[in-house]
Amino acid sequence: MNELYLMIPIRKKKMMKVSFLSFFILFCLLGLTFSPIQATEKNLPQRSWFVDMTKFQSSSHGRISCSECHPDIEEKGVKHPNSNLLNRPSTLLYDYKRCEKCHPQVYQRYLKGEHAKALVERKKDAPTCGNCHVSHYVVSGQSRLVLGRWMTEMCGKCHLSEMRTYLENYHGKAAASLGHEASAYCTDCHGAHTCLSLKKKEVALEACKKCHPNAQLRFTDYVIHASKEGVKKEDVEKLNKLTILRWIEIGFGIIVFVVLAFFYSHTLVWILRKVHEWLKRN
Ligand code: HEC
Ligand code: HEC
Ligand code: HEC
Ligand code: HEC
Ligand code: HEC
Ligand code: HEC
Repeated sequence: MNELYLMIPIRKKKMMKVSFLSFFILFCLLGLTFSPIQATEKNLPQRSWFVDMTKFQSSSHGRISCSECHPDIEEKGVKHPNSNLLNRPSTLLYDYKRCEKCHPQVYQRYLKGEHAKALVERKKDAPTCGNCHVSHYVVSGQSRLVLGRWMTEMCGKCHLSEMRTYLENYHGKAAASLGHEASAYCTDCHGAHTCLSLKKKEVALEACKKCHPNAQLRFTDYVIHASKEGVKKEDVEKLNKLTILRWIEIGFGIIVFVVLAFFYSHTLVWILRKVHEWLKRN
């Protein structure tokens, strides 16, 4: 009888330790894989030849007549449907200069940006208005958070590695993942239509200063997109910074490993001792 009484608490303790351990391991694994924002195909804007009139009418363009943006529909002599139209994506066919009439400033800003430059240089996939906005369903006055999360995925379609590093970085974690609107979304630093390259420190500093007014040139040494993907060989400074970051990461990795290894082996030895004691008693 006595022995049985003794056994129960020890078993319970052991069970508690084992379950605590498994919870800890599970928690670590979850931490490694869990990310609130994930770019999936189904979250990206889809287009089809079907125009959802309810959605169209409740959009910012809902009161504009079709012919305002599609003057060619009304032109006599143009066949509709036209096989040329049906065979190619409408974003490639549409003349986005038509947007200028109502959005002149945005249009002018776009023309000065890196995307327009890439388009002129005929780089594949350089975006025009239609790559970023689905013109039939645009909605004005959305919250900063909604716009921010939308653009993270939308820009991330083409700049996958920048999206990933942004989401791993302080600003992305705070702004996109946790919804802290004071932190920075892509366009706070790069601009939506101006689309600035921030490789030059002076340009980057101007962007940082919007929210870090006391920043000095050294402040821009902070690496926002910590990935070698797409970094050119001539960009020695960034590559060096990434190497240092890598070594720091490895250093911390070793420390964490040693600490965990010590405590796990300690626990294992402790369990063995308890088992040993228990066996001795029986
Ligand atoms: C604000 C301008 C605008 C208005 C208003 C507009 N469209 Fe469009 N439409 C576009 C643009 C731009 C495209 C090319 C795709 C894109 O960028 O979204 C397009 C594409 C289309 C397409 C090709 C399929 C597609 O979605 O890509 C159809 C069909 C179409 N529009 C029909 C209509 C009809 C019908 C109306 C009126 C109910 C209408 N549009 C009103 C700008 C407009
Ligand atoms: C006939 C005028 C007109 C034309 C042409 C037009 N728009 Fe608009 N657009 C508007 C109006 C009006 C609004 C609503 C503005 C508001 O509510 O502040 C708007 C709103 C928008 C918004 C949402 C703005 C926001 O506040 O988030 C986007 C994006 C947009 N338009 C893109 C386009 C694109 C792309 C084209 C070209 C295919 C285009 N527009 C052509 C009149 C026009
Ligand atoms: C690379 C993606 C991208 C392209 C290309 C782009 N936009 Fe935008 N646009 C955005 C984003 C992101 C926002 C909202 C967030 C912001 O303003 O920072 C926006 C906001 C807007 C707005 C409302 C806010 C404002 O500044 O008035 C309008 C109108 C607009 N876009 C029209 C256009 C037109 C017209 C074009 C083509 C000349 C265009 N956009 C091209 C990404 C883009
Ligand atoms: C449809 C694809 C596409 C989308 C969407 C897109 N971009 Fe781009 N972007 C490009 C291409 C293509 C280039 C030119 C790349 C090059 O020069 O190598 C470019 C260039 C850039 C550059 C300059 C890069 C350089 O090396 O000079 C920046 C910054 C940038 N994009 C930011 C953004 C932001 C911010 C958004 C969202 C608001 C966005 N892009 C959305 C395709 C895209
Ligand atoms: C806090 C400011 C900040 C935010 C937010 C940010 N970036 Fe950047 N980005 C930079 C800086 C600074 C550089 C230049 C240094 C470098 O290449 O790391 C850069 C570089 C880039 C480049 C290529 C190189 C170039 O010429 O500038 C692209 C493309 C880009 N960012 C896209 C994005 C996209 C897409 C997002 C959102 C998912 C984003 N950035 C969010 C600051 C930012
Ligand atoms: C839209 C606003 C915004 C922009 C633009 C912005 N940041 Fe930040 N950043 C924040 C906020 C908010 C924090 C949170 C810390 C705080 O409250 O000071 C932060 C934090 C940081 C931190 C963490 C250290 C700290 O101060 O607590 C660094 C480093 C940083 N930003 C660098 C940059 C760099 C470099 C740029 C320019 C390329 C930049 N930021 C652009 C809003 C911004």
